[in-house]
Amino acid sequence: PRIGVVVVAAGSGQRLGYGLPKAQVPLAGRTILAHALEGILASGIAERICVAVPPRDSVLREVCTGASGQVPVTAVEGGASRAASVSRALAGLGPDLDGILVHDAARALTPPEVFVRVVEALAAGAKAVIPAVPVADTIKTAVPSAADQQAIAGEKVAGTPDRSLLRAVQTPQGFDAAALTAAHRSLAAMGPLEAEGITDDAMLVESQGTEVFLVPGSPEALKITTPLDLMTAEALVAARDR
Ligand code: CTP
Ligand code: MG
Repeated sequence: PRIGVVVVAAGSGQRLGYGLPKAQVPLAGRTILAHALEGILASGIAERICVAVPPRDSVLREVCTGASGQVPVTAVEGGASRAASVSRALAGLGPDLDGILVHDAARALTPPEVFVRVVEALAAGAKAVIPAVPVADTIKTAVPSAADQQAIAGEKVAGTPDRSLLRAVQTPQGFDAAALTAAHRSLAAMGPLEAEGITDDAMLVESQGTEVFLVPGSPEALKITTPLDLMTAEALVAARDR
């Protein structure tokens, strides 16, 4: 299939707190975005790539130009939310694709096999497919404690979902090109509150009635969010280079 990849790299990286847009932050001497593009290109699945970068970010635009070899890598200005950045990069990707993968630059060390697994599921007929891993922690739902319980703690447990049914989901998330484009058009028509509750692209196509399939993700596809994650990523690159 003809596959285009959207990379969202327009976030500011508040939680990392590096004082630079997150995709520009150095990881083992190169930017986070450069690592992310390397993984995609190594997988060999992409016909073209469009990256959403922060407005007026010449550093990340140059990373895109530098990565471009056989596969064209273009950059567009991202939006105020992740979803808006995806929409803009989708438009930048252009027509005539069978499938589109949406990938977070912050998952910079995603192994190429994960891209391949997602594309294989699309080729086998899935309209939507996402990589996922089992959840290690027991997850609780929490509600505010009653007024007369506030002296004990602010929150209490409302329930414990069956962990064997839970998955932590990653990117790249893969979609039939027409299904993803239609889902993003419907997002544009939603009110801001409804739109805010949709936290990934799979949730958006789910809301349109599309079945979403799961393939194995990888612990190495961690999302670099906090300084601890950056330390983990540095250690991972060092281990790969060894
Ligand atoms: N992203 C984007 N446009 C936005 C917000 C996020 O392209 N307006 C991208 C980020 O660059 C990242 C991915 O979406 O690759 C996941 O977002 P997140 O990890 O939350 O990154 P940031 O928003 O940059 O980080 P923070 O929330 O800590 O500020
Ligand atoms: Mg964010």
